[in-house]
Amino acid sequence: MSRDYEAERINRACWDEIAPIHGRSYDISALLAGGHRLDPVQVGEIGDIRGKKVLHLQCHIGTDTLSLARLGADVTGVDFSEGSLAVAADLSKRTGLAARFIHCPIYDLRDHLSERFDLIYTSIGVLCWNSNIDLWAGIVADFLKPGGEFYLMESHPFLNVFDDEASGLAVVNPYFTGGIPRDWPSGSPDYADENYLVKNPTREFTWTMGDVHNALVNAGLRIGWIHEFDFIHWKALECMKSGEDGFWRLPEPLNRIPLLFSLRATKPP
Ligand SMILES: C[S@@+](CC[C@H](N)C(=O)[O-])C[C@H]1O[C@@H](n2cnc3c(N)ncnc32)[C@H](O)[C@@H]1O
Repeated sequence: MSRDYEAERINRACWDEIAPIHGRSYDISALLAGGHRLDPVQVGEIGDIRGKKVLHLQCHIGTDTLSLARLGADVTGVDFSEGSLAVAADLSKRTGLAARFIHCPIYDLRDHLSERFDLIYTSIGVLCWNSNIDLWAGIVADFLKPGGEFYLMESHPFLNVFDDEASGLAVVNPYFTGGIPRDWPSGSPDYADENYLVKNPTREFTWTMGDVHNALVNAGLRIGWIHEFDFIHWKALECMKSGEDGFWRLPEPLNRIPLLFSLRATKPP
C-alpha cells in the first residue's frame, strides 16, 4: 500500500510553521487552571479513561493530549511535526501534566513503539492529512490491545463540498475524490490566528464516511456506532452562527446536513 511522501513533506513544513503561532493563539487557560479543553460531547462519548493507556494520533501541540492526561489517562501523543511537539513539551511543563510525545509520521509508528493501548484517540482536522486511509486504519488496529477501543471525532466529509465563503450553501467540490488530493496555495489566514498568513501550501485528502468505515472494518475493527452532528467547533462556512454552547450551526432551513461526526470502534478480543 503506497503513501504520498511528497504530501507529508509539504504538510509537515506547514505544521512546523504554524505550531508556534498555535502555541500563542490556542486558549490554554482551562489547562493552566486545572481543567481540560475537550468539549462535553467528546467527554461523554469517551467515558471514564482514568488509568487507561491512551494513544493520541496526530496530537499537534498536545492540548488534547494533556486534556486526556488531566482526565486521568496515561497518554502517548504522536505527531510528525517537530515544531508541534516542541510546543507540546513546553505546555506539559507549564501545566505540570505528564505525557510522552513521539515524533514520527503515524505510518512509521511501528518503528518507534511496540506497546498496545486501551484507547486510541484522534480528533478534528486529522483525516485530511492522511494520503492512505487503509494504512491509517491498519495503524489504529495494530496499536490497540484486543478489546481496546478507537475514538474519532472529525469534521464531516460532506462539509468539504461547500464553498466556505458563500452566503448560503453552494456545492463547488466533489464528495467523491477517489483519494486524489487537493493542493491549497500559501497565503491563507491561519485557522487559530486570522492575522497570520500561512507561508506554506498544503496537500489535503477527502475521505468519505464509507472510506473511513470500510478502512476500519477491513483492518479488523468492529464499528460500535457513528454519530453525526448539525454543529461544529468553528465557523466552517460563512453563513454559520455561533451558539451559547460555543458550537457553530447553519441557520434554518439550511441546518439539515451533517457538519461533524464521531465514531467508536473496538478491536475484537
Ligand atoms: C489539525 S492538527 C490536529 C488537531 C488537534 N485536534 C488540535 O487542534 O490540536 C493535525 C496534526 O496532524 C499532524 N499530522 C499530519 N499528518 C501527519 C502524519 N502523517 N503523521 C503524524 N502527524 C501528522 C500535523 O503535524 C498536525 O499537528
